Amino acid sequence: MPSMTEAAAMTSPMILADGIRKRFGANEVLKGVSLTLAKGEVVAVIGPSGSGKSTFLRCLNHLETIDAGRIVIEGDTLADNDAGGHARYVADAELRRICARMGMVFQHFNLFPHLTVLQNVIEAPITVKGIKREAILPKAEELLKKVGLLDKRDAYPSRLSGGQKQRVAIARALAMEPDIMLFDEPTSALDPELTGEVLRTMHQLADEHMTMLVVTHEMGFAREVASRVVFMDGGELIESRPAAEFFANPQHPRTRAFLDSML
Ligand SMILES: Nc1ncnc2c1ncn2[C@@H]1O[C@H](COP(=O)(O)OP(=O)(O)OP(=O)(O)O)[C@@H](O)[C@H]1O
Ligand SMILES: [Mg+2]
Repeated sequence: MPSMTEAAAMTSPMILADGIRKRFGANEVLKGVSLTLAKGEVVAVIGPSGSGKSTFLRCLNHLETIDAGRIVIEGDTLADNDAGGHARYVADAELRRICARMGMVFQHFNLFPHLTVLQNVIEAPITVKGIKREAILPKAEELLKKVGLLDKRDAYPSRLSGGQKQRVAIARALAMEPDIMLFDEPTSALDPELTGEVLRTMHQLADEHMTMLVVTHEMGFAREVASRVVFMDGGELIESRPAAEFFANPQHPRTRAFLDSML
């Protein structure tokens, strides 16, 4: 039987991004970004505005296409370089199958305004996965209970606070049973008193060993919940280290300057 470390080495990373390049016109916004996430890792991505954090996240689940590099999700290749160094994607069906393993939560909740909370949560499992309404209902209710919103199941999003909307958005993403959750500044549109409830929900997910990649400016969250913190600046990944080390002893001058500016 293989030892624990051998067994761990044999398991594919949940996310492998290698040398990701992306430009918008003349503006190269990702200049060869590489990052690997193991199962159950919670990685916080921090960095100044415009450094490419959102673009990187969006490239991982094909909301943006990459120009060069390799993306492998749970051992399955999404995109890889051809002989000329240009990224080539796998066929559409395979691409959709792989991207379905990633749930994403945005800064602006993007709930369907004309659907109730419950309808928002069950919509994609029914329309995308073809699951029957009766079959998804218990799961949806369980998820709403988990995010503390079962009593709001029949409310429309306009009647919810920002924090409640964001928790519905999280429940909605989880209803697709993703293996990986990507968060892009999930609390930055919220009043400070509402961020706590969303961070608690994310904390709970982390405790359940969900693999999470979280773009955030919540240093407290990064410090307490993230296993690793990554600093991006100018389209480059400058530093990636265990959270405690990252904050106690940042190595790169740009990281130090950024952390100083956050205080
Ligand atoms: N769809 C797009 N078309 C053209 N340029 C874009 C597009 N999306 C992003 N950019 C540019 O790419 C760069 C990186 O943007 P990105 O949104 O990834 O940064 P960010 O680190 O998430 O910033 P913030 O902290 O403000 O959210 C910026 O210069 C931005 O203007
Ligand atoms: Mg962003």
